[in-house]
Amino acid sequence: MSRLLIRGGRLLDPAADRDEPGDLLCQDGLVEAVGPDLDARGAQVVDAEGAWITPGFVDLHAHLREPGQEYKEDIASGGRAAVAGGFTAVACMANTQPVNDDPATTDFILDRARQDSPAKVYPIAAATRGLEGVVMTEMSALVDAGAVAFSDDGRTIMDSGVMRRVLEYSRLVEVPVIVHCEDRTLVGQGVVNEGAMSTRLGLPGNPAIAETVHVARDVILAELTGAHLHVAHVSTVGGVASIRVARERGINVTAEVTPHHLTLSDEETVGYDTNTKVAPPLRSAQDVAACRAALVDGTIDAIATDHAPHATHEKDQEFTEAPCGMIGFETAAAVSLDLVRSGELSPLAWVARISTAPARILQCPGGSLAPGQPADVTLLDPERRWHYDPAKGYSKSRNSPWAGRDLVGSVVATIVDGTIVYHVDRGVLVP
Ligand code: DOR
Repeated sequence: MSRLLIRGGRLLDPAADRDEPGDLLCQDGLVEAVGPDLDARGAQVVDAEGAWITPGFVDLHAHLREPGQEYKEDIASGGRAAVAGGFTAVACMANTQPVNDDPATTDFILDRARQDSPAKVYPIAAATRGLEGVVMTEMSALVDAGAVAFSDDGRTIMDSGVMRRVLEYSRLVEVPVIVHCEDRTLVGQGVVNEGAMSTRLGLPGNPAIAETVHVARDVILAELTGAHLHVAHVSTVGGVASIRVARERGINVTAEVTPHHLTLSDEETVGYDTNTKVAPPLRSAQDVAACRAALVDGTIDAIATDHAPHATHEKDQEFTEAPCGMIGFETAAAVSLDLVRSGELSPLAWVARISTAPARILQCPGGSLAPGQPADVTLLDPERRWHYDPAKGYSKSRNSPWAGRDLVGSVVATIVDGTIVYHVDRGVLVP
């Protein structure tokens, strides 16, 4: 029998609308009790003085690169980076090599995760074979194998007929379809946001309309089919507007935004730092403001990292040649807490967006501190200042625009199924 008492923190549990001081007791991997002055007898005690006690963060959008690109990341290193960032569960995208478009690959990922990852891992299977946007995958076999959603993330399903069928079939298996909305014919060769910045840098522009067009199309197809559409990494005023209208009309649409699209504009690309190259690109200040407002008013449900590791030799190229993506697990909390510091989100609303909402969207356990739930818990010191050096982090890759910066807000400990898997002073502890 294992007992763990987290003592004397600020309990923040959006699922119970709870924001009050207290303790949390875990027993045999489950939450046993929450409240003031719980009995510590026989329990390992963790002091949470000055810290928030929250349900473990859930990341519904990450790239773990295994199988196939283990030089960038693997399930072991990604899982360690996840718990170091306070994530107790992560959903991994299908653009691995081979693509996760058959049950054997889904099985392999789950098997690896059980052996190697301190974070829970939920595979997202491809919506179309080879991410080619032509032939649908075998959805029910993939769901039976453990897939929690379908997505061709990294690519857009350009063919509206295929997209319609993907949505129709997803209803039968009752999981969401996660869409990467960038119309390839409008993106063209674009590598930075189209506008003053692309002109100034002399780089081809990727226009906001490339996203807006596809969010609008997919929302209309979601209305037609009744499927659960989840829009990945929303980045534009227009994307937000379509989602807002869809929600007002009762269409089954949810959405996420990344910490980088919430806090960085295309101004960041001024030095040609390839770590700012991401898909969709960093947008204008107006787009950033729209994403923030949408996260605050609930038009966008969740914060998701889009953790996308790439090796240094790949990022160390001309801006036009470098791959898109930045790592995000270990910086997500500190960066997105900017909205709490600014007063836009209450601490409880922030926890809802990084834990409760993503768990709800994926229909996976988590996002709640209710007794009987898995004891997946994050302790966070929102005031602690720290220096971010990706070389000292757990990801195999270092492609972060925050490298070398001081950040505020630090994970103190991450607990998965009642076991401490990360502590800020001791690092990752298991497996
Ligand atoms: O920047 C990105 N990188 N966006 C994506 O959608 C894919 C990802 C990757 O896999 O590197």
